[in-house]
Amino acid sequence: MWLGYKICLFWVSFVMGETIEEYFDFVLPLVKEAGKSLLTAADYEVETKQEIYDLVTVYDRKIEDVLIKNIKKKWPHHKFIGEEESEVNGISELTDTPTWIIDPIDGTANFVRNMKFSGVSVGLVINKVQMMGIVYNPFLEECFTAIKGKGAFLNGEEIKTNGQKDIQKSIFNYELSLARNPKYYELYMYRLKYLMKEILGIRSYGSSVMGLCYVANGRLDAYQCDGLYPWDAAAGVLIVREAGGYVCDSNGGEFHLMNPNFLATSTKELSDQFMAIERTADEERENASNKNIKFSP
Ligand SMILES: *[C@@H]1O[C@H](CO)[C@@H](O)[C@H](O)[C@H]1NC(C)=O
Repeated sequence: MWLGYKICLFWVSFVMGETIEEYFDFVLPLVKEAGKSLLTAADYEVETKQEIYDLVTVYDRKIEDVLIKNIKKKWPHHKFIGEEESEVNGISELTDTPTWIIDPIDGTANFVRNMKFSGVSVGLVINKVQMMGIVYNPFLEECFTAIKGKGAFLNGEEIKTNGQKDIQKSIFNYELSLARNPKYYELYMYRLKYLMKEILGIRSYGSSVMGLCYVANGRLDAYQCDGLYPWDAAAGVLIVREAGGYVCDSNGGEFHLMNPNFLATSTKELSDQFMAIERTADEERENASNKNIKFSP
């Protein structure tokens, strides 16, 4: 019985292990090839989606189509959640079936302005667990990868977060474009009022997948972003965790891939410091809103 159980476990891990690596080996070259097509991109039109900062080009659609088509041909029963496809069909529910979650170009606004901070992101979720992530920035020739339980890598070299535990020494990437939205404006303004006195420096890079990877390899200490979609986090959150970093929901709770907002930090200790300060800021905002006081700097 025990032996049977062990053999069964071994078999499961063997088959799963083999399969994940097989998925990885098949998809990595596809992602790289798709990403490289951006290096020669020219004369494309830029459209604006629902939000004014949400842009799309023909390359977003092309890359997503190529990735989905090729993976589907190899594994016809797999499912897909792609940014551009979801724009048309809505985001499908996550099931236990292997599901590829694709952001063809994250940081499109950077891409169209020739700022080299954007990337192709592909995550694989099986049984609702994030199992694999690939984020490729063709402009800097940097490919971040992770397989669950096997560590995180940049161009094949293992990476770790920088282990920062002190908010006063931390460089914080805070995605602030959402502050345009009245729903978020006061939230951000109150939090910044408190955070700016504590942190060492602030950035707002405009690509969630790259922001996560920069925490993973220790360039950033912390990264926070709200109002996200699964494709913004499917690969990057796994990469941060496999690099030893900590990811929670932007409000301090558990991170949820299908309703993602996050704070990603080098360590849990750093996360706790950010969260304590943000709780105070949120409380002041709450108090002000109860008294109908608008934020004024
Ligand atoms: C919010 O209001 C409560 C009750 O008046 C007060 O105790 C608390 O200090 C306030 N919080 C902040 C951060 O201003």
